[in-house]
Amino acid sequence: MANTYDFGLVGLGVMGRNFILNVADNGFTAFGNDLDEEKVSALIEEGGDTAKVNATSDVVTFVNGLSTPRKIMLLVPAGKVVDIVIENLLPHLDKGDIIIDGGNSFFTDTDRREAYLHEKGINFFGAGVSGGAKGARKGPSIMPGGSRDAYQHVKPIFEAVSAKYEGEPCVAYLGPKSAGNYVKMVHNGIEYGLMQLTSEIYDLLKKAGHLTNEELHQTYASWNAGRLQSFLVEITSEIFEQKDDLGDGHLVDKILDKAKQKGTGKWTSQNAMDLGIPVPTIDVAVSMREISALKEERIKADELYGRPTPESVVKKTLVDKAESALYFAFIITYAQGMHQLADASKEYGYELELGEIAKIWRAGCIIRAALLADITEAFKADTGLRNLLLSPSFVGKVQETVGAARELVAYGATNGIPLPGLSNALTYFDAYTSSRLPLNLIQAQRDYFGSHTYERLDKEGTFHTEWED
Ligand code: 6PG
Repeated sequence: MANTYDFGLVGLGVMGRNFILNVADNGFTAFGNDLDEEKVSALIEEGGDTAKVNATSDVVTFVNGLSTPRKIMLLVPAGKVVDIVIENLLPHLDKGDIIIDGGNSFFTDTDRREAYLHEKGINFFGAGVSGGAKGARKGPSIMPGGSRDAYQHVKPIFEAVSAKYEGEPCVAYLGPKSAGNYVKMVHNGIEYGLMQLTSEIYDLLKKAGHLTNEELHQTYASWNAGRLQSFLVEITSEIFEQKDDLGDGHLVDKILDKAKQKGTGKWTSQNAMDLGIPVPTIDVAVSMREISALKEERIKADELYGRPTPESVVKKTLVDKAESALYFAFIITYAQGMHQLADASKEYGYELELGEIAKIWRAGCIIRAALLADITEAFKADTGLRNLLLSPSFVGKVQETVGAARELVAYGATNGIPLPGLSNALTYFDAYTSSRLPLNLIQAQRDYFGSHTYERLDKEGTFHTEWED
């Protein structure tokens, strides 16, 4: 049985099991490895007698069972486990073999592992995989980064198993080193932003428009049939339909309003701050998960302060404005994420092609949306585009919808309905499109109290003023 399987996969949890079955469905033979015997047996059973899938808990049998150069994907929890698995595999590998980390690893960990393995002649890829369990089984979006030459060995398998958008695979070689993990991190930052926006618009529709769950279901479903078509809007419409099987009513109303997080959104914000890139809609989406965790404090504060009773509105008008505002804020969120990718690419030498990234996000991943076809076009038309808002093809879309965002942000502020994603998107837009901002005053203040100097509009050079005299 030596040197037979085309593809190896370590970590037969939900994602790993689904991914390896997908590989086998696409005509490749695949060998799984997990320390857990139950997971090994479960995969062998699920693979049936196709002879395309097999599994073992023994690492030597696993490595010897793969054709060379070996292509071994890890779908294990990010962090220390990745290092442990690499160390277990290493003594049995040959030069030229390829390890692919398919988890949400922090990009600097990927750089460290890539450098370490490179010295040993092993190729290392960080490849973000998006789409959850169903995506892994039926076609995810895959974001690989690493050696361009080694990618040629992985390419046929990844292209076969990935999601397809109008026949085109949702995978592409993105760049060297941690480029793939970085892109997946920003994907998740955008995911946080879009999720925050869809949930705060739900809050608005419920509190101001008194929409029932059935009406919310219909509303999100109709939006999903239009320009807001996206995976997140689609599943949101389905969530409102779900009845509670443990009691009366709808499940959504019984779910505790504390959102957990595994850290990728926070990493996106932290790194954006480090690089000096403004992504306020993503930042506030992370902050809202943190505020949501303060449930007990929120209950006390609610009793202390209360809130205004929302003024009545015409339901149909509210729904139409919400659709426009959500579309506007989706554009701004993608714009911020793409801007982060553009700047990070320069900083880290990834040489990312933003049109290519938008293209592989059009299907399979969590942030897939009709809008990504337009974003792909915008970045393909101008490969040096700094910000989506500067693309002529987006000016009309934004101008048409920003008015609704203004009205809803004003309504939310007056009526005590928090719309932090929408208001941050609007503020970002207003600031980014202002040729003159009041930050001249900040420069004056800095120079006043700390002699930090300032530049002038009308003269070259650096200036300082003795303000107190
Ligand atoms: C994906 C998702 C996935 C992520 C979950 C949970 O693209 O399939 O981004 O990788 O782990 O969305 O993330 P949080 O627990 O941080 O919400």
